[in-house]
Amino acid sequence: MSFLTLQGISKRYGDFTAIEHIDLSVERGEFMSLLGPSGCGKTTTLQMIAGFISPTSGRITLDGRDITDARPEKRGIGVVFQSYALFPHMTVAGNVGFGLEMRKMKRDERRRRIGEALELVHLSGLDERYPKELSGGQRQRVAIARAIAMQPELLLLDEPMSNLDAKLREEMHIELRAIQKRLGITTILVTHDQVEAMTMSDRIAVMHRGKVAQLSTPFDAYERPATPFTSTFLGRTNTLEGEVLRRNPRCAEVAVAGTTLHVPHEGRDVDGAVNVYIRPEKVRLANGDARLQGRIATRVFVGNQWLLVVDTALGRMHVAQPNFGAPPPEEGREVGLAWTDDDLRVLNQEGRHGHA
Ligand SMILES: Nc1ncnc2c1ncn2[C@@H]1O[C@H](COP(=O)(O)OP(=O)(O)OP(=O)(O)O)[C@@H](O)[C@H]1O
Ligand SMILES: [Mg+2]
Repeated sequence: MSFLTLQGISKRYGDFTAIEHIDLSVERGEFMSLLGPSGCGKTTTLQMIAGFISPTSGRITLDGRDITDARPEKRGIGVVFQSYALFPHMTVAGNVGFGLEMRKMKRDERRRRIGEALELVHLSGLDERYPKELSGGQRQRVAIARAIAMQPELLLLDEPMSNLDAKLREEMHIELRAIQKRLGITTILVTHDQVEAMTMSDRIAVMHRGKVAQLSTPFDAYERPATPFTSTFLGRTNTLEGEVLRRNPRCAEVAVAGTTLHVPHEGRDVDGAVNVYIRPEKVRLANGDARLQGRIATRVFVGNQWLLVVDTALGRMHVAQPNFGAPPPEEGREVGLAWTDDDLRVLNQEGRHGHA
């Protein structure tokens, strides 16, 4: 049995269903992210696991125990809340060491743990400061250190890095992931930051309107979206509306604006009105082997790549080209576009596919 299971979990507030029948299993030592837009039910799900909200129906087990009705402090779970409440009258070291002191850990050992945790979040030397003497991002890091110091069996993180600047956040992703692996702490991270979810997770549960729309590895979530929602939510993509002409054993022939595209259907039951998707980085500028002609409407330089918007007979196409050194053609110029059919994806428009 998995380390943590949610079985048929729902949460209703009056007539409003915040969570609709979620089944989810998290393995021991796994890092799972709940990723989705604001209001999709991420915090509600996490709070039900932590025990601060009780589900309307369903069952939660942790390490074989039914904890559905257990009090939060009896669950052995570490939590970093979306609003990371620190004790204002305690120093940084006091905050980080509070739980350890409650556990009656010896002073030397406690000091060592506090030091380690603060080092991890880059706050060594600020031990004696009070929360009001810290920036928002520093407070957030104290909250992370406090949870890590406890080395809980299950760690729940709700947007723990939302206040950090981009560079620090990137470093923390890698360091937090490393320490999570080293200590083997099963972790669930709530985030709406796709890069954060992809960098850190073994698996991502993409949530949409109180349900899990897709549960898969970061690579599969990006490369094989299971629903129109996940296709457009994770990363950027070009969406082309089309009509299935024929479904062959491996690919579907799809009519898009008078052109026929051959799209691998990966066993999906596609028919009628469909969307064909292709990622901007999988479309390239081409001369001889161009599949489509267009005119560059916008050209933007973002350092590691160029982002182009190209007007074509199939509609506006976004193209991301790595920065090889030489700039691509200027705005207004005619260009050819090419891609490999294997990089196209197809889904029924209404999202009738269910889960991957
Ligand atoms: N106590 C409550 N009473 C009524 N509705 C609630 C309550 N708590 C949450 N909701 C609703 O449930 C839905 C899910 O809320 P939740 O806080 O889980 O979203 P979230 O995915 O964490 O969003 P965010 O990214 O903005 O934090 C929202 O539509 C919210 O308005
Ligand atoms: Mg939330």
